[in-house]
Amino acid sequence: MNLILLGAPGAGKGTQAELLVKQLSIPAISTGNMLREAMANGSELGKKVKQIMDSGMLVPDDLILALVSDRIQREDCKNGFILDGVPRTLTQAAALDAAGISVDYAVSIEIDDSVIESRMSGRRVCPKCGASYHVVNIPPKTEGICDCCGSELKVRVDDLPETVHKRLAVYHASTEVLKEYYAKQGKLCLVNGDQPVGDTNRDVLKAIGAKV
Ligand code: AP5
Repeated sequence: MNLILLGAPGAGKGTQAELLVKQLSIPAISTGNMLREAMANGSELGKKVKQIMDSGMLVPDDLILALVSDRIQREDCKNGFILDGVPRTLTQAAALDAAGISVDYAVSIEIDDSVIESRMSGRRVCPKCGASYHVVNIPPKTEGICDCCGSELKVRVDDLPETVHKRLAVYHASTEVLKEYYAKQGKLCLVNGDQPVGDTNRDVLKAIGAKV
């Protein structure tokens, strides 16, 4: 099962990817998490992308494609993978197809921009393992602490309201067109993201014909 999770920033891709990893026993490849890890490590890649990510713009396609192609080669992807946050442009989608990296389903998590803004203001993330929470909707067991690894939770720099506006504009300008791209391939599934996490998860599993 090779799966793409599409959707606006804050639609719930990362939250659903975390559940699907356990349910389908395949890894999630989150370019956002990989890039944040590179920034935290102070690597060359991290230095190159910091300003772009903090401002809500897209990282150049060639850097993303190198990152993803390398990750997909690893042993743990041999039974499938979940792409979270990639592809994000037509160039990235076409390059994955050209490289023979095919997908079975592209699931778009649908949600209005107005709901996204409140979600982003309450988001807290674990800088160590990438787990995502919401102070009201999906709180950690202990306030401010990651359930998975015990690290202190942080607010993402790109969750500032003006940056969220920018990211939504970038999504509508460059990424939303991918729904049409995958619809033409007969791979697109639309799932309502404006409902409780478990209900969205149930609908994603149904859309991809998974029995769990
Ligand atoms: P990335 O990390 O991919 O961010 P994003 O796509 O903007 O998505 P988010 O992580 O913000 O949201 P999400 O959909 O995963 O939602 P989440 O589950 O966290 O990318 C960041 C940056 O990296 C980009 O701006 C770009 O610069 C760069 N980048 C990454 N990939 C790239 C690429 N391929 N090409 C170029 N540049 C790239 O949920 C959000 C909040 O809502 C959380 O608090 C969560 O707890 C809560 N929540 C989730 N589901 C529900 C629900 N059903 N009900 C209530 N609350 C919910």
